[in-house]
Amino acid sequence: MQKLKIHGGHPLKGDVRISGAKNAALPILAASLLTADPLVLTNVPQLNDIGTMLKLLAEMGVKSERTTDAASLRADNLTNLVASYDLVKTMRASILVLGPLLARFGEARVSLPGGCAIGARPVDLHIKGLEAMGATITIEAGYIQANAKKLKGARIYMETVTVTGTENLLMAACLAEGTTTLENSACEPEVVDLAECLIKMGANIRGHGTDVITVEGVASLHGASHSIMPDRIETGTFLAAVAAMGTVGGDVRITHAQPRSLDAVIEKLRASGAAIASTEHEIHISMNKRPNAISLRTAPYPAFPTDMQAQFIALDCIASGTSAVTETIFENRFMHVQELVRLGAKIDIEGNTAIVHGMNKLTGTSVMATDLRASACLVIAGLVAEGETIIDRIYHLDRGYDHIEQKLTAIGAKIERIN
Ligand code: EPZ
Repeated sequence: MQKLKIHGGHPLKGDVRISGAKNAALPILAASLLTADPLVLTNVPQLNDIGTMLKLLAEMGVKSERTTDAASLRADNLTNLVASYDLVKTMRASILVLGPLLARFGEARVSLPGGCAIGARPVDLHIKGLEAMGATITIEAGYIQANAKKLKGARIYMETVTVTGTENLLMAACLAEGTTTLENSACEPEVVDLAECLIKMGANIRGHGTDVITVEGVASLHGASHSIMPDRIETGTFLAAVAAMGTVGGDVRITHAQPRSLDAVIEKLRASGAAIASTEHEIHISMNKRPNAISLRTAPYPAFPTDMQAQFIALDCIASGTSAVTETIFENRFMHVQELVRLGAKIDIEGNTAIVHGMNKLTGTSVMATDLRASACLVIAGLVAEGETIIDRIYHLDRGYDHIEQKLTAIGAKIERIN
């Protein structure tokens, strides 16, 4: 099993190029199922999750070609409509094929995604929405069996804001008969990117980016070309790493980014004492003093993203002062806390809030990644800690970060992958 070895305490200086967004690319890859024409995607990140989604689609008969940062897909001759457990269990986002398969073929058999480290992660709202559109859905032997002669537009209210739930229902509604309104929709930029790709494919969508999305169903969709939006969580992770360097210093220019999708994160980083200037596609961040402690509360977009919570706890571990970090989206997203304590952090968990007492330093040791963003948090902690930090189970990291050690090495970090 591969590990990362990090020697902490080195300034971060230079340029970082952001890759395409994992959480936009995954639903957009699934959207290829909605047409028999080619879907040509650029700025596709090189991530294990992308590979898993392409494999899942290939198992159904979707043809795809992959180059460094592009992918073209064609679902003109599917051989089966099944998303099998052995792939779905490795990536919950596989559920995103359910809506498109049902909308175009009237049938789908998708393994129930199990829970994961950060929570139960049910898909009841995906199912309720599709049933509202006329699907008959049964769950048997761990599989979702869905059938519908033709989906019908419906007014759907999602009682919890769900990103992939919104995306699944949005894709299904594109080929349904009549009008669908999705109320209490997710407003995440990745949902907007999916909607913009679907509109290029001929879909009739309004209100994406707000909490009410209206879709007029059309008879069919056609091919399109689309460039995946920049990854705002990768961007936020690098920003948090620079701010965490404190007096060691950081001065980094982040390119090919989308600063406007990070307002809540940039506001908190400025409060920590980082100097940040941004243009449309670039962010310049510098830091030369110990960060101020930052309290925050995660919530759906445009509020502070849950996918940046762990990275900010790493920053707070060495900040001046005490902070309260409240996680409102997932019920078990503090797995990184115990690993940070091994590095010398002082953190108390009270319900869904972590109380972080900033320390003068962290001390490198061996730690274990438990989920994708927890592993990013441990990388930041390793960059800051004195001495050497070894991070185990970094397959979690590889799911969502494109060449992270190369990008960090290029700005001065001492980090390498070891077996
Ligand atoms: C997406 O997951 C992201 N993944 C997650 O990113 C992100 O943390 C999450 O949205 C929240 O922003 C992708 O986009 C592939 P949800 P998703 O449905 O859609 C409850 C990462 O690190 N819920 O918005 O699975 C659910 O339990 C990953 O890149 C239901 O109750 O999250 C949770 O408490 C981690 N019933 C809340 O809603 C449902 O049917 C939000 O979950 C669906 C969700």
